[in-house]
Amino acid sequence: MDYRILGPLEALDGERRLSLGGTRQRAVLALLLLHGNKALARDMIIDELWGESPPQTAHKVLQNCISALRKELPGGAETLGTAGAAYVLRLEPDELDRNRFERGLADGRAALAAGDAAAAAAELREALTLWRGFPLSDFAYEGFAQDEIARLDELHTAGLEDRIEADLALGRHAELVPELEALVARHPVRERLRAQLMLALYRSGRQAEALSSYRDARRTLLDELGIEPGRPLQELERAILAQDAALDTAPAARASAPGRRAATPVVGRDEELALLEAGLEDALAGRGRLFVVAGAAGTGKTRLGDEIASRAKAGGARILWGRGWGGGGAPPFWPWIQALRDAGQTFPEPAGDDDGARFRAFEAVTEMLREEAARQPLLLVFDDLQAADTDSLLLIEFLASELPEMAVLMLALGRDETPGLDELGRLATQTLHLGS
Ligand SMILES: Nc1ncnc2c1ncn2[C@@H]1O[C@H](COP(=O)(O)OP(=O)(O)OP(=O)(O)O)[C@@H](O)[C@H]1O
Ligand SMILES: [Mg+2]
Repeated sequence: MDYRILGPLEALDGERRLSLGGTRQRAVLALLLLHGNKALARDMIIDELWGESPPQTAHKVLQNCISALRKELPGGAETLGTAGAAYVLRLEPDELDRNRFERGLADGRAALAAGDAAAAAAELREALTLWRGFPLSDFAYEGFAQDEIARLDELHTAGLEDRIEADLALGRHAELVPELEALVARHPVRERLRAQLMLALYRSGRQAEALSSYRDARRTLLDELGIEPGRPLQELERAILAQDAALDTAPAARASAPGRRAATPVVGRDEELALLEAGLEDALAGRGRLFVVAGAAGTGKTRLGDEIASRAKAGGARILWGRGWGGGGAPPFWPWIQALRDAGQTFPEPAGDDDGARFRAFEAVTEMLREEAARQPLLLVFDDLQAADTDSLLLIEFLASELPEMAVLMLALGRDETPGLDELGRLATQTLHLGS
C-alpha cells in the first residue's frame, strides 16, 4: 500500500486509487494512519472527530466508516483489525509517505554531516518531492490534525534549509537567491534562512545586498520579537564586511580528475615510490623536482603516476595532468593544453612560428605556473610522452630548468622509445626505468 498524507489524503494499491468515501470516513483513515500499528480506542476516535458532544449515532457512523474502509483496503479486516474496543491499522514503515519523508530527511542530514553534499542534496531533494502541498490538507481545520500539521510543516522547512545548505556547498548560490528570497518572505524570523540568503548573495558578488539583507533581518527580529539577531547571524555580517575567505565555497571535487586512489594497491614498487615520495616532499617544501619514468607498455608508469597523484593530493597539492595523443589530429602542445586546463588556465599559443614567439610562450607558461604554485603546490604529470609533439617535450625541458625555486613536482612518463626522453633525464633528479 501507498498511503499519502503530505497533501490531500490518498491511498493507492499499486495503480488503483482507493475510494475513501466522505469526510468522516477519510478522517477515520487519517487518524488510524497517524497512529499506525497502535490500538486506537473507539471512544478516542469519537472524541477526536466530534469533540465534547458527539451525536447519539456516533458509534454507528464510526462502525460504518470502518466497514467501508475494510471493503476498500486490501486485506480487509486483517489490515484494519479490531482489538477489543479499539481499532488498529497495520502499516509497514514504508507504506506511509510521511515515514519515507522522515527517513529521507534523516539520510540526507547524515550525508551532509559526513561532508557528502552531492548525496545530501539528492537525498533531500527526493524526500521533499513527496510533499504534494499542505500536509493533511483535507483536515486543516480538524483539531486532531493540528499538532501533526505543525510538526510536519516545521520538518519540511528544516528539510528545505538542509537541502539549501547542501546546494550552497555545491556552489549553487546564484540559482538559490530567488528561492531564498521567497522563503524569507514566508518565514521572516527564521535566522538560518536569513543567513543562507546573505551567504548566497555574498557569493554571487552581491555584497551590498547581503549586508542590507542583514539589516532587514535585524529590523524584523527587533520589530516582531524584540530581540537582536543571534550570534551566528551577527558573525556572518562581520565576516561579510571583512570579506573573510572562509565564506568562499570549497572548489567542488572533480570526479574525473586524475589523482583518485585506484581500487587496488600498487605492488612491488616500493623503491620507486620512496624516491618519488621524497621528491614530492621536496616539491611541497618549495624545492621543485623533475622525475622521468620510462618503461615498456604496461609496466605501470601511469599506475605509479596515479599513486603519487593521490599522495600529492593528500599532501595539499593540485594535480595537473596532460597526456600525449597518438591517434592523430591533436593540436600542438596538446599535453600542456590539458594540464593548464586542470589549473583553470588557457595555454598561451605562440604568436607566430618563429623561435622568438615560442620562447615567449614558454616564458608565459612558466610564469603562470610560478604564480599557481605560489598559491598551491602543484603536481604536474605528463603521460604517454611517446605520443607528444616535440615542442611539448621542449617546454617540459624549459620548465625543468626553472623548477628548483617552485613548489612543483613534475613527472614525465613515456615508453622507452620516447624521443628526447634521455635529454630530459639529464635535467631530472632521477630517471626510473620500470622493468616488467
Ligand atoms: N605496481 C603495480 N601494482 C598493481 N597494479 C599495477 C602495477 N603496475 C601496473 N599495474 C596495472 O597494470 C596495468 C598496466 O599498467 P599501466 O597502465 O600503469 O602501464 P603503463 O606503463 O602506463 O602502460 P602504457 O605505456 O601503455 O601507458 C594497469 O591495469 C595497472 O593498474
Ligand atoms: Mg600509461
